[in-house]
Amino acid sequence: MEQAIDTSLPGADAAASVAAYLQQHETKGLLRFITCGSVDDGKSTLIGRLLHDTKLLLDDQLAALESDSLRHGTQNGQIDFALLVDGLAAEREQGITIDVAYRFFGTERRKFIVADCPGHEQYTRNMATGASTADVAVVLVDARKGLLTQTRRHSYIVKSLGINRVVLAVNKMDLVDFDQATFDAICGQYRALASHLGITHVDCLPLSALQGDNMIVRSVNTPWYAGPTLLELLETVPIEGHDTQAAFRMPVQWVCRPNQDFRGFAGTVVSGRVKPGDAIVVQPSGRRSQVARIVTASGDLAEARPGQAVTLTLADEIDASRGDVIALASSPLEVADQFAAHLLWMGDERLLPGRPYLLKLGARTLGASVTEIKHKVDVNSQEQLAAKHLELNEVGLCNLHLDHPIPFEAYADSRALGGFILIDRQSNATVAAGTLEFALRRAGNIHWQHLDVDKGERAAIKHQQPRCLWFTGLSGAGKSTIANLVEKKLLALGKHTYLLDGDNVRHGLNKDLGFTAEDRVENIRRVAEVARLMTDAGLIVLVSFISPFRAEREMARALFEDGEFLEVFVDTPLADAERRDVKGLYAKARRGELSNFTGIDSPYEAPLKPEVHLHTQEADAATLADRVLAALGYHGLS
Ligand code: ADX
Repeated sequence: MEQAIDTSLPGADAAASVAAYLQQHETKGLLRFITCGSVDDGKSTLIGRLLHDTKLLLDDQLAALESDSLRHGTQNGQIDFALLVDGLAAEREQGITIDVAYRFFGTERRKFIVADCPGHEQYTRNMATGASTADVAVVLVDARKGLLTQTRRHSYIVKSLGINRVVLAVNKMDLVDFDQATFDAICGQYRALASHLGITHVDCLPLSALQGDNMIVRSVNTPWYAGPTLLELLETVPIEGHDTQAAFRMPVQWVCRPNQDFRGFAGTVVSGRVKPGDAIVVQPSGRRSQVARIVTASGDLAEARPGQAVTLTLADEIDASRGDVIALASSPLEVADQFAAHLLWMGDERLLPGRPYLLKLGARTLGASVTEIKHKVDVNSQEQLAAKHLELNEVGLCNLHLDHPIPFEAYADSRALGGFILIDRQSNATVAAGTLEFALRRAGNIHWQHLDVDKGERAAIKHQQPRCLWFTGLSGAGKSTIANLVEKKLLALGKHTYLLDGDNVRHGLNKDLGFTAEDRVENIRRVAEVARLMTDAGLIVLVSFISPFRAEREMARALFEDGEFLEVFVDTPLADAERRDVKGLYAKARRGELSNFTGIDSPYEAPLKPEVHLHTQEADAATLADRVLAALGYHGLS
């Protein structure tokens, strides 16, 4: 008898059982599907029943289920299939953010991997994870309720992640007396939605997952339904195979160099085929060579095909590193660093344009930011709405800027080379799933103009090292007072300086910006760029901005060379700054006449490792200014 394997196991265990499972069923077709539904649509029951009725449950799992059903079940002593799935889900609740259970089962005709994702609204991220590898989506609706917001949201995501085939499971038909009119009405509505979304194949099924109607065998309760059962449908829907006709592409997973004589590039072929002797190009570097050997654990291959994990050796000693793509030389990928991309935001904190994130695409990780949100999408109406930020579960079309150019394909052409996630730099959490739509050429046509005079020469003539002193702290902490003193002292030493002060810059360059989080990000981005230009001019630049967010201070730091940027934390307790209240703004904020005031109703994220940490209660401004000078290497000058 074949066995179903449960594999809610994380990490390596799951990988091992996946591999074992796939090996066992190598000769049969594999269908990956995902189930989506709202909380009570009966998703767990449906999966539990599929596993049970295909008789592939392990016997001991079944015994445990029977006793659990008697103890906790809600189905009067009958087996409660929901327990089978939910019980396993509970174990995984702890600490795993992306909570998708992959379950495996097989029949004589096919093997299946089903991605089971919790149905709560906040779990959209899990759904997206499951959908990104699926061929088919089974969308459940409760026959009593019809289409819900969740149905629309899930269908939108399913389509954006490249699934063109949906099985609409109209469940709980027993609770509407197997009424054909109810079923037809729901199907009609769903087909309209699907055609609007561009989902090309929809099959509608009347089901009762609980009672088994039309799950495995045709139900006597739906004589008006002549179509296949759920299992028949899953066994027969066409599986889109790997694209062997497309041009060869293999992202480099790692460089394998066991000894001096061997260097290979290991990865999984994502499309096309390759043979020894084929001319290839490594991207983005553009270096060319030929495939020498295709090495695998079980010997060399004459040809590598999609889905195969191989190590390629090349005829020439050329470099490639993790994340590079090896492509057929006659058909290279596009390379770009600016994109139009769809984002599904999954972060608890909102997406802010301009904020630096990490982008992970295949094996490559690099810095990225959203330069503009073109619009967000109302997933109910598919309407495009103007947006300044994206909140949890919102979807938007954005312009994306990467720190370096990458080889890519549009997601519609390649999930592997066009799908990505965004990661928060501070918390390391996954905050978005995204799809690359197309490259924006704009920036590609702007080149760096070579200039003969460089920063070193500009600084040398001033007899100084260019620096950026970045003063951060609450409003009224004393940043500008201290920065002002530091500048005077530097001037006295014959140094060339400039002081960029938040209040002053907001009168000119940044007068279009207010104090929302979005505007502050842009405020800091602009002043950081200006400070960089001034440093490039050879100056010692002092920046005195509240700059309340760590992420933007890190973005500023990243613009400078090592050692050039010094973060100066002017640390005054909120109570002190508020007591002084030089500009009367704290009082206004407390009266509710000023919103988004830092420290009152907008956060200040203190530096974790500033180069200079000034406690303003401990010393006067002149002493603190000397400490800053000392950090620059100018000692004993009071
Ligand atoms: S930042 O947060 O975007 O870095 P910035 O340093 O440019 O702020 O400007 C802060 C100055 O603007 C404060 O010193 C204060 O005088 C003034 N201000 C006006 N409204 C606010 C507000 N809501 N929050 C903070 N500062 C404000």
